Amino acid sequence: MDISKDIFYVGVNDHKVDLFEGQYEVPLGMAYNSYLIMDEKTAVMDTVDKNFTHEWLDNLERALGGRKPDYLVVQHMEPDHSAYIVNFMKNYPDAVVVSSSKAFTMMQNFFGKDFEDKRIVVGEGDTLSLGKHTLHFVTAPMVHWPEVIMTYDDVDKVLFSADGFGKFGANDVEDPEGWACEARRYYFGIVGKYGAQVQAVLKKAATLDIQTICPLHGPVLKENLGYYLETYQTWSSYGIESDGIVIAYTSVYGHTKKAVEMLADMLKERGCPKVTVTDLARDDMFEAVEDAFRYGRLVLATTTYNADIFPFMRTFITHLKERGYQKRTVAFIENGSWAPQAAKVMRGMFEGCKDIKFAEQSVRIMSALNDESKEQLKSLADELCSDYEQRDEKTAVKNDMTALFKIGYGLYVVTTNDGTKDNGCIVNTVSQLTSSPLLVAVGINKANYTYHIVQKTGILNINCISQDAPFKVFQTFGFQSGRNTDKFADCKDTAPRTDNGLIFLPRYINAVMSLKVKQEVDLGTHGMFICEVTEARVMSNVETMTYSYYQSNVKPKPETEGKKGWVCKVCGYVYEGEDLPEDFVCPLCKHGASDFERIQ
Ligand code: FEO
Repeated sequence: MDISKDIFYVGVNDHKVDLFEGQYEVPLGMAYNSYLIMDEKTAVMDTVDKNFTHEWLDNLERALGGRKPDYLVVQHMEPDHSAYIVNFMKNYPDAVVVSSSKAFTMMQNFFGKDFEDKRIVVGEGDTLSLGKHTLHFVTAPMVHWPEVIMTYDDVDKVLFSADGFGKFGANDVEDPEGWACEARRYYFGIVGKYGAQVQAVLKKAATLDIQTICPLHGPVLKENLGYYLETYQTWSSYGIESDGIVIAYTSVYGHTKKAVEMLADMLKERGCPKVTVTDLARDDMFEAVEDAFRYGRLVLATTTYNADIFPFMRTFITHLKERGYQKRTVAFIENGSWAPQAAKVMRGMFEGCKDIKFAEQSVRIMSALNDESKEQLKSLADELCSDYEQRDEKTAVKNDMTALFKIGYGLYVVTTNDGTKDNGCIVNTVSQLTSSPLLVAVGINKANYTYHIVQKTGILNINCISQDAPFKVFQTFGFQSGRNTDKFADCKDTAPRTDNGLIFLPRYINAVMSLKVKQEVDLGTHGMFICEVTEARVMSNVETMTYSYYQSNVKPKPETEGKKGWVCKVCGYVYEGEDLPEDFVCPLCKHGASDFERIQ
């Protein structure tokens, strides 16, 4: 096979290998690629696996057409590519080995020799001229061993990518699933742990004009290279490649399997675009590893076994963890006839994995499914498929006004002065409207004393609350009125002021801005003040407090345990009683009955 006028394929196909690297099934065989560059000097790119030396040498000799190789470039020392280095040098004693310094150390370890008098050591940015072609070397440590280099030919714009962009499968059979499926299983099986290192190489590759990729396994890639580079970008950044849910399970007597089948049906009914189910004891576990990295949601179902979890599940989670599993949602189904603890054990195994979100609903089966565990399955299916359902015209709920809570509100203290005392109140509607002129909008409830002060004085300060603010800040400025409280009583003489004379919070803010009202828009219950900025100070780099951060991390959880009645969604105040009066006003935060919900 000709890669270009000067570059030739001299690799081999292996249909005898049972398990690649001793653990990966390769039903379509395996290719060990090697290439020859013919110029004024000739360069061979890597050797092949030890079982193919004669075939490889024949390929090479045919391509050389009577010439001798000048260089053997060794990009990777794993034996599937390096097995024939010593014999090559015996056959071609005038050739020079070109490789990284770490690779020569490995040659010493593998072969007891490092070709000290017949070698060129190359590192990042080094070049080797063959005549017309110049080879540029790019170090690629840990893609997939530390000594790896890749090589770029600047004439034919070929990247020799070592293990990168390789796949399982021989090159003389067609892969019915195309490139991605077996390339993904190969990537996550073999290189998955080294996402950061692959990213580093992709950054270097982005600076090269690449028109052909020649990997050490799988087909030479010539068309649509953007797709392969983009796919590697997704894989190496642990991004979610496809919508769908993976269920991986073990089952001893079939009850866990039944729960899995039931869940799979529920997920499909709820519009999940793809559900994959793997029996970890019987199916290829690395297909499940590949799927776990391909999709964003993973359900693990297993039994409690020897006070631990079933061994295949332990192995599976270990495979994920070793490969840097992250940025995914994980849910658990556990089965235990007398003391279930599989969910706890599985969850514990993900400790240390970055950005793993556990589903709120866990499913517990006590031997066999019952009404309670079936309800848990339904609830898990609802949780995992909520966005899929909302995407679907038929299942979407189109009047859910809690969508408004998803707007990224920050939280701010508006400080003012009524002529006799300083005041402050919390608002969540502050937006920059334009940059030239610089205009900011601030929405304030007309029921707040602050609204009347701003209307009267025309000036205000916006204090941007930072994430380190304690709940006390919200109690002080959110749950009481300035009409009858002096909110700055204990610090009015010491707190700082901006040039407009207004006070601002000495702590727990990351910025303060002084505003001057240009216009008010009457919004009925609220007034929106359109203001110019007269002063702006940045206090710190602590992130701004958002409404959702406040809800999740600052607001104390309401003490509803054992109580019946209603709880205020704003401040957590509990009203004990069967019926909440329509005109009820929260004594803590002054919000009305509509902000209460029944204690479940
Ligand atoms: Fe194909 Fe890492 O050897």
